[in-house]
Amino acid sequence: MQFFRVKGGKALSGEVKVSGSKNAALPIICASVLTKEKCVIKNIPDIQDVHTLLHILKFLGSEYTFENNVLTIQTKEVKTKTIPHDLVKCLRASILLLSPILIRNNKVKLSYPGGCVLGKRPIDSHLYGYMRLGAKVTETNDYIQIKSPKGLAGADITMPEISVTGTENIIVAACASKGKTIIRLAASEPHVQDLCHMLNEMGAKIRGIGTHTLHIEGVSVFKGVKSHSVTPDYLEAGTLAISAAITRGNVKIKNMHPHDLEVLWQKFEEVGIPFEVGKNWVHIKPTHKRYKPVHKLQTLIFPGFPTDLQAPFAVLLTQAHGVSRIFETLFEGRLGYLFELEKMGAKTEILNPNQALIIGPTKLQGVPIASCDLRAGAAMVIAALVAKGETIISNINYIDRGYENFEQKLRSLGADIERFDS
Ligand code: EPZ
Repeated sequence: MQFFRVKGGKALSGEVKVSGSKNAALPIICASVLTKEKCVIKNIPDIQDVHTLLHILKFLGSEYTFENNVLTIQTKEVKTKTIPHDLVKCLRASILLLSPILIRNNKVKLSYPGGCVLGKRPIDSHLYGYMRLGAKVTETNDYIQIKSPKGLAGADITMPEISVTGTENIIVAACASKGKTIIRLAASEPHVQDLCHMLNEMGAKIRGIGTHTLHIEGVSVFKGVKSHSVTPDYLEAGTLAISAAITRGNVKIKNMHPHDLEVLWQKFEEVGIPFEVGKNWVHIKPTHKRYKPVHKLQTLIFPGFPTDLQAPFAVLLTQAHGVSRIFETLFEGRLGYLFELEKMGAKTEILNPNQALIIGPTKLQGVPIASCDLRAGAAMVIAALVAKGETIISNINYIDRGYENFEQKLRSLGADIERFDS
């Protein structure tokens, strides 16, 4: 088991570059399976989830090289094998293989990804989309099986949930369906947009990218791509910005799209954090002024406040002078990290599975704490950066799933953080 040891109290300073987006890299790697040709994909983060997905693809017959954040991958044939549960359960995003395999083989069988600490995480909106495109869907407790012997036919689909991976799966399936598809209530996160750009580079015909209504004209052939560069990870950028703000640091975050985080900057203004926004950078500046609470931090679908920054931002609110309300509208199990924060001295009140109050300011004390999930793990590191004394964080494998060189980036900004084995 690996841990982080963090000695808090240092203001971060310097410059840091953001890596490629995990949530864009995963669906884009899956989309490469649509073609027999070679795809070269750049700015892929070297993180655990990417390696797990590549392991699954190798099992299915893909050949690839992955070095210096460049993936060269080719899938000449997709073996009609059921992806075993032990591979699917450690990577929920393997559900994004449903469409490419269905399109290549006219059938696919995948072990049910199941829920996780964030909640039940059903996939009914995915399956609804497939049925609307004419596929035959059968579900058992363990497996999902989808068949389309005559191929898929375009349809006018209103998604029952605004689901990110649900939208991504149905976009890919619609790209290969005969005729026109409209997807209404489509998710529009930066990673959904990046997937659409990659698909269009492969020959797809998607219009309305970045909106909640997509118009797709089906095509029958997908070609390889010579060089697609994955969009920067706006969630990592937001995590680094919050880390700088909570330590009252002076940090320039580069290689990012500030426009992807408009609502985060609105909340920074509400708290009273000085910052400057450039074309592809944001500069977080120090201040001695008191941080103000946020009346309501409500997570929403993009372009609203991202659920994946809810935990990191809540840690910042423990340093604000007053009461802030957290309203997590997407997941029913995403407030568990507050119990870890309370061990450090934070004052919180969980009102129900979706709402909590943060009463600040509180001096956080370094103690042993655990990461409950990927983003909560990052939130624990942020808390440790400002805590008095030494914090030991366990279950950091969660953090390694989604943040590339996380402790190296923080150390380069002056944080006292190191990884050790138990
Ligand atoms: C994606 O998960 C992300 N993962 C998650 O990021 C992110 O938290 C989430 O979107 C929301 O933005 C990837 O992109 C790989 P959803 P996804 O389907 O697609 C309900 C991270 O930390 N829902 O948008 O699984 C569901 O229960 C991860 O990088 C249905 O009810 O999320 C949940 O409450 C964690 N029916 C909500 O929608 C469905 O068919 C959001 O789920 C699908 C979803």
